Amino acid sequence: MLKYAFVCVVLSVASSPVHAQDAASGEKIFNQCRACHQVGETAKNTVGPVLNGLIGRKAASHDGYSYSTALKSSGLTWDKATFADYIKDPKAKVPGMPG
Ligand code: HEC
Repeated sequence: MLKYAFVCVVLSVASSPVHAQDAASGEKIFNQCRACHQVGETAKNTVGPVLNGLIGRKAASHDGYSYSTALKSSGLTWDKATFADYIKDPKAKVPGMPG
C-alpha cells in the first residue's frame, strides 16, 4: 500500500520542483511504469499515456492519446483511492481494458 502512495506523490507533483525529495523516493517505484509511461515537462505519450497531474484528473483525459473505449467510458476520476485500487488490478477496475 505504501508503495502506491509514493507513486501517487510522483504523479501528483511530477512537474513541481518544490517536492523534489518526495518525488525522488517515488521515482524508484515509478521505474516499473516507465516502460510504458512518461512524466515531467518533456513527457510524451508512448505505449501508455503521459501521467502528469494524474491525481484529480478524469480517466482517459490526456490530449493526444488514443485510449481504449473501456477506459474512456469508465467514468473514473483519479484520486488516491481510485488510483490505488486500479493499480492493484487494472482489469478488475476497468473491465475490458487492454494490457
Ligand atoms: C506494459 C505497459 C504498461 C505498464 C508497465 C504500465 N502501464 Fe499504465 N497504462 C498502459 C496503457 C496501454 C494504458 C492505457 C489503457 C487504456 O487506454 O485503456 C495505461 C493507463 C494507465 C492509467 C490511466 C491514465 C489516464 O490518463 O486515465 C494510469 C493511471 C496508469 N496507466 C498507471 C500506471 C502505473 C502507476 C504504472 C506502474 C506501476 C503503470 N501504469 C504501468 C500501459 C502500461
